[in-house]
Amino acid sequence: MKGLILSGGAGTRLRPITHTSAKQLVPVANKPILFYGIEDMAAAGITEIGIIVGATAPEIEMAVGDGSDFGVSITYLTQDEPLGLAHCVLIAQEFLGDDDFVMYLGDNMLQQGLDGFIDRWRTMHADSRPPSLDVSNRSNSGPAAQILLTPVPEPHRFGVAELDAAGHVVRLVEKPEDPPSDLALVGVYLFSSAIHEAVAAIEPSDRGELEITDAIQWLIDHDVPVHHDLLDGWWLDTGKKDPLLESNRRVLESIEPRIDGDVDENSTVDGRVVIEAGARLINAEVRGPAIIGRGSTITSSYIGPFTAIAANCEVIDSEIDQSVIMEGARILSVPRLTDSLLGRDTEVVRSTRRPHATRVMLGDHSAVELA
Ligand code: DAU
Repeated sequence: MKGLILSGGAGTRLRPITHTSAKQLVPVANKPILFYGIEDMAAAGITEIGIIVGATAPEIEMAVGDGSDFGVSITYLTQDEPLGLAHCVLIAQEFLGDDDFVMYLGDNMLQQGLDGFIDRWRTMHADSRPPSLDVSNRSNSGPAAQILLTPVPEPHRFGVAELDAAGHVVRLVEKPEDPPSDLALVGVYLFSSAIHEAVAAIEPSDRGELEITDAIQWLIDHDVPVHHDLLDGWWLDTGKKDPLLESNRRVLESIEPRIDGDVDENSTVDGRVVIEAGARLINAEVRGPAIIGRGSTITSSYIGPFTAIAANCEVIDSEIDQSVIMEGARILSVPRLTDSLLGRDTEVVRSTRRPHATRVMLGDHSAVELA
């Protein structure tokens, strides 16, 4: 079994953070979202992984490398334009060959890992003929696709599944105005090579993308079995600020505490806290769950629960909680920063300059909430 991770596309919904950088590399508990998917695949024994990359390819390739850090081998597959999830399968066909594969959306995070999902697929195929590319000849073979569903409060933001009375998937629709159910498609799928025929047969949707939901619908319409699993545990589609902060909270809740950096005698560390090597606390208080990245300095400040401060940040005379602070940020004399996401090398400074005023330089689509 191979892995296919989708890490192309444009991160329009996390602007301005992803105007210039890949949304899949935004950190959750100081680790890029994308790494969680790679680690889940490695843990499930998948060692050959293709990653679809687009305009942000250099950055993704720099972060992930050849996969050896994860114990896997990575092949990068270039997608010139984000033409849809099914288009990704189309361009990955040569890499995937006739193998079954797990497709994982690079901006999704799942608590449950992939083991159970893959085990179910293997059990269903154990007693059946290997799936055939020829969809007219598929009796007595296992499902050609397995999807993961979960009830959500806003189904119109997702792909949505409709089940019949017997619990079989009969219809899939992408971001419907009038959702037929509240069951959203989670961004992890399992396919046999039969999907290649489906992605080659469908037409682009109204928004101009080859939709994976349409490809799976094509299988259903051709009487090819599609199985579904219900999600166990939490799942986050991290394309927006609040879900990203929530992923950060969830992951920090279970990090292993460790202090590899310097904590001076005037500082306190309380609860589940990671202080990375080279990080320094000077007259600071850190109350976990929290993580302070390597090379960051926290001086005369309070870092409260559910905060991840990435590498090489500087925090002086400030209080921060419930936030994700990306690499190289500087926060000086800010009495309380909460529920915030700061991009790389950003600066938030309280100034004593006259006239007393708020001075900002904000990128397009930025948002500032003043106290
Ligand atoms: O998160 C779950 C949802 O993901 C599903 O419920 C939907 O059915 C599915 O279409 C997808 O919707 P999104 O709108 O969230 O997809 P997004 O455009 O954010 O793309 C998901 C990932 O795939 C992201 O890492 C970017 C990558 N991608 C996307 C497109 C359209 C590509 O690599 N190439 C592409 O052409």
